Amino acid sequence: MKAVRILASLLLAVLLLLVFGWALSPHDVAEAPEAALPAIPVKWEHQALRPLLAAAAPLSAKAELGQRLFFEPRLSRDDTLSCSTCHDLSHGGIDRKPVSIGVGGQLGPINAPTVFNASLNFVQFWDGRAATLEEQAAGPVHNPLEMDSSWPQVIAKLLQDDSYRSAFARLYPAGISSEAITDAIAAFERTLTTPNSRFDRFLLGDGNALNDQEQHGYRRFLELGCASCHQGVGIGGNMYQRFGVMADYFRGRPENTADLGRFNVTGKAEDRHVFKVPGLRNVALTAPYFHDASAKTLEEAVMVMGRYQLGRQLSNDDVHAIVAFLGTLTGEWQGKVLE
Ligand code: HEC
Ligand code: HEC
Repeated sequence: MKAVRILASLLLAVLLLLVFGWALSPHDVAEAPEAALPAIPVKWEHQALRPLLAAAAPLSAKAELGQRLFFEPRLSRDDTLSCSTCHDLSHGGIDRKPVSIGVGGQLGPINAPTVFNASLNFVQFWDGRAATLEEQAAGPVHNPLEMDSSWPQVIAKLLQDDSYRSAFARLYPAGISSEAITDAIAAFERTLTTPNSRFDRFLLGDGNALNDQEQHGYRRFLELGCASCHQGVGIGGNMYQRFGVMADYFRGRPENTADLGRFNVTGKAEDRHVFKVPGLRNVALTAPYFHDASAKTLEEAVMVMGRYQLGRQLSNDDVHAIVAFLGTLTGEWQGKVLE
């Protein structure tokens, strides 16, 4: 009995020591600036940003058909535009234009995002109006400012081509249909991931993959709070946020439908100017920036983000370091570094 009581008081003493020890220790790192600096995370398991691992090769038969369709101008009304016209896979998956140019030279309302890593996005388009890649692929075909066609027209053209007829028949029992076309294109798009960027190698343990300035940029990206929105494997693409959290980015501009973002889908006042946070992989290759192409350089885009998303005037050092870090997000496709 006595032994039990001694053991119990010993336990109590240890407990009290632990509690007081914790209360007295400087655990409140938020108030100690040096202690708040996160160490450079070579281990990625607990980090906001995650590595992109290589996808399985080779292409499936569906992805191969999808690849052919991606380059197929017969998806457009006058056979002039394919997906690749606006999403050039040898130029970062974009058209390098402020807004895209559709059939007959018509100007679209918005900047084209890259198709690389689009499969990592939680929804597609700036305003998230397509839930899946399959749903997304129907958009440009019908958009009067893009391919300006329709499924009956596209299917009629593809049916005239024996090689398409047999390729579809092999993979889709019902033959050529809108579902089969978008299914194959989406299968190809899922192969457009770009692993093995220097940043991925760094996260996976190669501490030399990033130089000092790039590592500093990564640290500032985390410290400043960029990663509260641009996070996960896609370094973005997994949430909606307002463009202009800390200040009104759109003040003084004439109202423009594309600027309304998610509001165009939901009609809710709180969704005005809310956009899908874009993924930042390969971002060094995809100027101009933002849905309205209002930033011509990455430096400018980073400064705008500091001001409107974080309410801070970033120093030149921070801007340059972050831009250097963003340059390490350029990955590889089919074994080659993207250009
Ligand atoms: C005329 C140029 C043009 C053509 C042709 C075109 N796109 Fe796009 N694409 C755009 C623009 C502009 C957007 C952004 C539209 C928006 O968000 O409202 C976009 C958005 C996308 C997205 C969403 C990416 C993201 O991050 O949200 C994907 C995926 C995509 N296109 C794939 C395709 C495929 C597949 C085709 C062929 C079937 C195609 N595009 C044809 C210009 C084009
Ligand atoms: C509150 C959320 C939020 C924070 C914080 C944030 N961003 Fe963004 N970022 C966005 C949104 C939303 C967009 C898309 C804006 C648009 O075009 O409408 C964006 C766009 C971008 C773009 C342009 C991408 C492209 O393809 O056009 C870059 C680059 C970028 N952010 C970098 C940063 C950096 C660097 C930081 C930290 C200094 C940061 N962001 C902080 C939400 C955020």
